[in-house]
Amino acid sequence: MELTLPILQEKLKAWDGCALSKTSNPVLGEGNPNADIMFIGEAPGAKENELKRPFVGAAGKLLDELLESINLKRSDIYISNVVKYRPPANRDPTDEEKEQCMPWLKMEIALIKPKVIVPLGRHALGHFFPTLGMTAAHGTPQKIKIDNENSITIFPIYHPAAALHNGNFRGTLFEDFEALNKFLSAAS
Ligand code: URA
Repeated sequence: MELTLPILQEKLKAWDGCALSKTSNPVLGEGNPNADIMFIGEAPGAKENELKRPFVGAAGKLLDELLESINLKRSDIYISNVVKYRPPANRDPTDEEKEQCMPWLKMEIALIKPKVIVPLGRHALGHFFPTLGMTAAHGTPQKIKIDNENSITIFPIYHPAAALHNGNFRGTLFEDFEALNKFLSAAS
């Protein structure tokens, strides 16, 4: 049977390969299955766990504002997380949890086939560049090869939650989205 996003959703519901699945709900990515651009966050929070949808809490509201600032809507993009379950009390996901959930993210990327991936924050950045820090990487596109013929551009941006904890990040986030907009316009 051909793998599709709805099938992936069903498979995730039946999966118990991560201990977090005992205490929280599965939250797969969502959005446009034909999107050229995919955003990847860290892990669901309380609201995401309740509604079983990614980025529907406070960080998601800021993300909507950032998308709107460059004329993008949720329906233009696909959005997911590194970890598919909420870590208790919103703690950082562990290396083990990220490793266990990695096949789901890989399957989503393989299905969506985005041209550009925006890792939001250091956990998503680490999936592509394990040794690179967000301070150095944010706002600058980098190409990675995914096989012999295809490459994807990775455009790292701080996690929107950074600006909710420290207002100084807000300006940087809007600037990086503007840089993303310029990059997308030049690439199309
Ligand atoms: N933060 C994330 O990284 N992902 C979500 O889905 C919500 C908040």
